[in-house]
Amino acid sequence: MNPSFAGKILRRHLLAAAAAIALVPSAFAQAPIVIKFSHVVAMDTPKGKAAAYFAKRAEELTKGRVKVEVYPNSQLYKDKEELEALQLGSVQMLAPSLSKFAPLGVKEFEVFDLPFIFDDYADLHRVTDGPVGKGLLAKLETRGITGLAYWDNGFKVFSANKPLKAVADYKGMKMRIQSSKVLDAEMRALGALPQVLAFSETYQALQTGVVDGTENPPSNLYTQKMYEVQKNLSVTNHGYLGYAVVVNKKFWDGLPADIRGQLTQAIADATKVANDHAFADNQEALIKVKAMGKTEIYIPTPAERLALKKALVPVHQQMTSRIGEETLRAIYKETGFDPSKL
Ligand code: LMR
Repeated sequence: MNPSFAGKILRRHLLAAAAAIALVPSAFAQAPIVIKFSHVVAMDTPKGKAAAYFAKRAEELTKGRVKVEVYPNSQLYKDKEELEALQLGSVQMLAPSLSKFAPLGVKEFEVFDLPFIFDDYADLHRVTDGPVGKGLLAKLETRGITGLAYWDNGFKVFSANKPLKAVADYKGMKMRIQSSKVLDAEMRALGALPQVLAFSETYQALQTGVVDGTENPPSNLYTQKMYEVQKNLSVTNHGYLGYAVVVNKKFWDGLPADIRGQLTQAIADATKVANDHAFADNQEALIKVKAMGKTEIYIPTPAERLALKKALVPVHQQMTSRIGEETLRAIYKETGFDPSKL
């Protein structure tokens, strides 16, 4: 072979190989780490907005090394399935309501479901920002889950197709609840018949009469259009519903330290978004439900609310052994709540 021709071929091969080598590492470097973030509510809720903000912020702070895919509205998984999917690593991140952690064996989380335990967000934040909140998140580690933050939603209202004013009005009502023994006890204390249903099944269950009523913060009731199938809503603010943002522990621990730091910052920023929206969105949702003209909104009188409180606070004592005396006392200490002074 003509030596200059052979040299040309060799050069060409070398160039092609160099180009291929140059491509390979950059292709790897550019493949982003994907976080699938699944949740069950609408995008236009405090949780939906915070998840979307987290996705944007995580991509910004990691300069595209992380891509967050948010799947709202039970698109991927319903309540119970999503926690299983997280443990299996099919999704990396969730923000289930605090009521949904007991089936994993961390029953103490149901303390947040106790009726009338928090008067307002300030009471709640003393708990979630303090040692009790941190201690509860730490209990998830043995379940393969790392707790990153608490996100607010709000205080719950009762709804049905009849006015709910006196305690007696709840008697015999089939009420949809989340999978929490405390919520079960709450409904039974009112003489109602609790029924656990996935959030995504609630609208249809109300529509078809499988259940008569439910409880939720107004933002959930409005964005799921429950006002179409509930004629009456009572602004009882009798309990709290909020979230824990959780991640698959193995995934989290396996991330490069700089990325974990940037994601921690993104979560902190998204927490602010969730909490800033929570109060306003729930107030606004009540106004929007009213404007739809299908649901009568009732504000209980102080005497009616006190009667409800007296009927429901005994649930605290009833559930103490399930939740743990220590957790309950620690929360009373933070909030100043004294069940003996009603
Ligand atoms: C519910 O099931 O009622 C809520 O937990 C839904 C949610 O995530 O806000």
